Amino acid sequence: MIEVVVASRNTEALDICTYELASVDGSPLPAFSAGAHIDVHLPDGLVRQYSLCNHPQERHRYVIGVLKDPASRGGSRSLHEQVHEGARLSISEPRNLFPLVHDARRSLLFAGGIGITPLLCMAERLAHSGADFELHYCARSSERAAFVERLKASPFAEQVFLHFDEQPDTALDIAHVLAAPADDVHLYVCGPGGFMQHVLDNARAQGWQEACLHREYFTAAPVDNRLDGCFSVKLSSSGQVFEVPADKSVVQVLESHGIEIAVSCEQGICGTCLTRVLEGVPEHRDLFLTEQEQALNDQFTPCCSRAKTALLVLDI
Ligand code: FES
Repeated sequence: MIEVVVASRNTEALDICTYELASVDGSPLPAFSAGAHIDVHLPDGLVRQYSLCNHPQERHRYVIGVLKDPASRGGSRSLHEQVHEGARLSISEPRNLFPLVHDARRSLLFAGGIGITPLLCMAERLAHSGADFELHYCARSSERAAFVERLKASPFAEQVFLHFDEQPDTALDIAHVLAAPADDVHLYVCGPGGFMQHVLDNARAQGWQEACLHREYFTAAPVDNRLDGCFSVKLSSSGQVFEVPADKSVVQVLESHGIEIAVSCEQGICGTCLTRVLEGVPEHRDLFLTEQEQALNDQFTPCCSRAKTALLVLDI
């Protein structure tokens, strides 16, 4: 855990603020790579993940961009309403679940709305190394698009394409942009679920290989859990068996028996809770594992995933 102070807070666009975080004693912060995020511990006890959007060579600060989401589960509202310049926060060290493939011949970055944050950092990194890339930034309107001035003033401004819903002549021609898949061309996408699905579906339709598609989700889509049933989990080390009722997660059940599994997002996005499954078939509800990894059924995310079989034996 790192204690930081909010060195500055700026309004970047309608409902979007950036927070510049610096160490309390002015010492350099741990290094990070493009695509990394930090866990931010908020005043009311919530923990939320935010991508770092400053240049990855900077050590004197981390910058996060936060959209005040009307559907907020409390995190973005808490930051917007309670965290001002001078406030102190606890954060984790940066972790990167959305890294760049550094030997790519070409990279295509697709940002939807606040999904620009990790891709902005990637664009800085790619430009710094002279790599071939394009950044496509889609937003509902120019007033809702953060960092536009920074992008226009950047050395890579010519590689940035802005697409605003309110300006039909700027519409993203996704089929054209994705027309030339290749093993050494990589696609990165971050934004609302529907936007990401649109980009990924188009890429697959054009023959892109899964290994070239990289994504980072902000929030999981709501899951219909009305038909959830109960199942049991067995710990391979002790042989203990616990019943998981329909309204509890595996993590919650184990925690109530004093068995802690490290969690962060608690919605199947970050992979922190990933646990090996030795027997039984999980019902995967995460967005972290690829479809191929899920099909192996040898690991699952106990913060949200459930079971298709009556018993799962866990490597705990
Ligand atoms: Fe993030 Fe389970 S805690 S995937």
